[in-house]
Amino acid sequence: MTIETHILDINKAQDIQTAKDILLQGGRVAIPTETVYGLGAIATNEDAVKSVFVAKNRPLDHPLIVHIGNESQLNYWVDEISQAARCVMNVCWPGPLTLIFKKKPQVSSLISAGLDTVAIRMPGLRSIRDLIADLPHGLVAPSANPHKQLSPTTAEHVKQGLGGKIEAILDGGACDVGLESTILDVSGNELQILRAGPYSQEQLAQITNMHVAMPMSHSVKVAGNMKAHYQPITPLVLVESAELEDYIGVGNSQSYAVLHVDSASASAAKICFNMPTDRAGYARKLYQTLHQADHSKTDTIVVEVTPQIKSWPEIMNRLERASHR
Ligand code: TXA
Ligand code: MG
Repeated sequence: MTIETHILDINKAQDIQTAKDILLQGGRVAIPTETVYGLGAIATNEDAVKSVFVAKNRPLDHPLIVHIGNESQLNYWVDEISQAARCVMNVCWPGPLTLIFKKKPQVSSLISAGLDTVAIRMPGLRSIRDLIADLPHGLVAPSANPHKQLSPTTAEHVKQGLGGKIEAILDGGACDVGLESTILDVSGNELQILRAGPYSQEQLAQITNMHVAMPMSHSVKVAGNMKAHYQPITPLVLVESAELEDYIGVGNSQSYAVLHVDSASASAAKICFNMPTDRAGYARKLYQTLHQADHSKTDTIVVEVTPQIKSWPEIMNRLERASHR
């Protein structure tokens, strides 16, 4: 069934009120955050939470992040806050860091997918925090894309993926960070990164003055732990700089869209995207460029990987999953 998806403007007070009304009535509103757009629904409304899984076609064993507008909303979800958790909250919230806490018994097992923990994030955008703070307890907000596909960094991306399936999209322009939050588990004695993201392992270790583990593999079912994820429709391959020229060489009947950083050898490609060479800049552009490349009607998306890109775990995590077949 297709429904009308209203496009709302974050700069209009009346549209913010409409977004709140839709949420309070149990509807789904895609909201901008500094990382990617999220698909918001009132976290204590079971039917609304269920409808988020339905719109995304997301399996029920993938838990959701609760987004809060202020610290007092945290009390509904969590009662044990360790010293290390306090420390990162003081420095990184509001911002692109999700924390995994032991959950209070009242937290719905739909949100936590049966785990004894709950994921919480306080997003960076002021207007979104104000909106959430006006609603009871917080919003669940997984990335606003169909399951396994590319995350959205503009309202237009959300419309392409979920238009007709959700009640509204609140347009707040392009996301500034462009990559999903780092997920840090603070529920046990050891600090552990479950999904690499804008806050690096080194930064979190420095902030907490503790060892922060980032296991190559762990058993927790998170997006960053699935082999195929963040995928464009067009097949995507990763190619080292030295091999790029040969890969897309003349005489090959395939057409390519190439994301490159410093290689002149991409010139044989049908379509080229010149990516920023700094870490934050590359992250900001990544999904946006992959969405563009996916619309370029080429046979394959080729991403040039350099030693520098290989040293950025949050980027390699997304690229490896995007290329998995
Ligand atoms: O930046 C972000 O985090 C964005 C924006 C919208 O806030 N949200 C986002 O949500 O990326 P989503 O649902 O696409 O990814 C959240 C990840 C999932 O992989 C989920 O498995 C994991 O968080 N997660 C949620 N609750 C968890 C828990 N209790 N323990 C471990 N992982 C959890
Ligand atoms: Mg996601």
